[in-house]
Amino acid sequence: MTIVNETYDVIIVGGGGAGQRAALETASSGANVALISKVFPTRSHTVSAQGGINAALGNIDKGDSWECHMFDTIRGSDYLGDQDSIEYMCSQASRTVIELEHMGMPFSRNEDGTIYQRAFGGQTLDFGKGGQAHRTCPAADRTGHAMLHTLFQQNVKAKTRFFHEWFAIDLLKSGPQKVSGILAMCLETGELRVFHAKAVVLATGGAGRIYASTTNAYSCTGDGLGMVYRAGFPLQDMEMWQFHPTGVAGVGCLITEGARGEGGILRNSEGERYMERYAPIQKDLACRDVVSRSSALEMKAGRGCGPRGDYMHLDLTHLPQETLQERLPGISDLARTFANVDVSKEPIPVVPTCHYMMGGIPTNKYGQVLTQDKLGKDTFVEGLYAAGECACVSVHGANRLGANSLLEIVVFGRAVGHHINDHIGDIAHEKNAEFDASLEKALGRVGFWRQGGGGESIDEVIQDMKKIMQEDFGVFRDGKNMQEGLAKLDVVRRRLAHASISDKSLAFNTRLVSAFELENMMAVAYTTAMAALARKESRGAHSRVDFPDRDDKNWHKHSLAFEGDRASTRAVNMQPNHVDPFPLQEREH
Ligand code: FUM
Repeated sequence: MTIVNETYDVIIVGGGGAGQRAALETASSGANVALISKVFPTRSHTVSAQGGINAALGNIDKGDSWECHMFDTIRGSDYLGDQDSIEYMCSQASRTVIELEHMGMPFSRNEDGTIYQRAFGGQTLDFGKGGQAHRTCPAADRTGHAMLHTLFQQNVKAKTRFFHEWFAIDLLKSGPQKVSGILAMCLETGELRVFHAKAVVLATGGAGRIYASTTNAYSCTGDGLGMVYRAGFPLQDMEMWQFHPTGVAGVGCLITEGARGEGGILRNSEGERYMERYAPIQKDLACRDVVSRSSALEMKAGRGCGPRGDYMHLDLTHLPQETLQERLPGISDLARTFANVDVSKEPIPVVPTCHYMMGGIPTNKYGQVLTQDKLGKDTFVEGLYAAGECACVSVHGANRLGANSLLEIVVFGRAVGHHINDHIGDIAHEKNAEFDASLEKALGRVGFWRQGGGGESIDEVIQDMKKIMQEDFGVFRDGKNMQEGLAKLDVVRRRLAHASISDKSLAFNTRLVSAFELENMMAVAYTTAMAALARKESRGAHSRVDFPDRDDKNWHKHSLAFEGDRASTRAVNMQPNHVDPFPLQEREH
């Protein structure tokens, strides 16, 4: 097959909020921008975000400030978040939300016409001393849907070139630390194409599909992370996975934290509001890691609901009809469809479910991808950026606050765009022997699946990987189980090297896409398992039964994982640029 070459200033991989925000910033400044997405952009996983986007607008709480938001985010991260990045995100939040409003995003409103703000977990006033904050700006409970369609319309106006239903296979390097393009495949025809670019932006979202139970869409397979890992660059803090307390039991789909923000209550089989015992002040709106662990402990103590005691109840029956209809119409629908529950009459069966990857591709606050030289010093990869869930900038550290994710994608999508706009003039297109070698290697992967045969089917490999991750790397972890889990995972990844697909056709070969996705997921799963076993402490979402305490002396640092099972660390940035640092403190909820 002949391979077509195309050249752009900027290639963006991923059509969710981060990718589209970066595309908008660069395209509207006159750059020649192509956005490659394996799904139609408005079907990207951002579309399913529900509860809202955080910004200290002060529409409900007059005394709120971005500094309080910054403090909550740092504390919520269990002090693993980088304070320069968190400062940047929180200080940019209000202007970012207003900018979206001006683009036409249909936020929910207060009586006086200002943007409505609801309570979300881990949000406080007066640096933890002033009670619950109302900082989350929603569009009912379909905020991601509203945001994604707003950004798509703006990108159409800015003339971003969309390649939808194209799959990005690998990064193409023109030097050890320089990226100059990607190889991608058209799903409709199977055509392979080389996209040359001065800047490549990875905005490929999460990878929750490595777990058996997840709120993530089928498309969340860590594609950007797999590409970076194979290119020899590190992944950061991969042990940090968030379990959302309220996924619909047995199904996984999300019931927004906004349901608790509007007054919903978690109850056990005795009807008790058990969060009063675990987090007496913040109760149902404690941070997600705390609530998920509390639910898991309740089930373990025999107070789970249902015949097998394997879920909890989320009770919304006391909420006014008006609140359900105006503020929570989406989850009322989801509960009816997936749990056969009328939320005004019965509780929803919910269970902690894998929701978000706090780790990812390490970047600085401009979105430039970071790697390490031989001496362990940070250097950046020329021409390569990452933003959104696939990136680890790191604003979430060991535990993300709800509604900081929609904020992160737009703030850092725009920041990447700014950096590219400022530097694109200095970057030349590069095509040299190293680029050709990198292309050969990528084509070799395509050939392996297209021409190979006779090996085990990928289906069993996928199921075995998910089972191990769910059983051994979930809400609670312990050394012995993780050691065994890692050994089993090693066997499974070796099986993948001998697997094959039977469909060799070109048009819409979804088996081939699944095979590529599985390779990406395996990189994510294996680095998660290695980093989780290595981190001998409990911090945020990483909760070890055998090391129950946070150990700042030995583990206040980011973990890095490279291909070839090499591990390293990076210091946490404790130095904001404009305010005083928030020193390490014990974190209760
Ligand atoms: O519960 C939610 O609406 C989820 C929000 C988030 O993950 O940021």
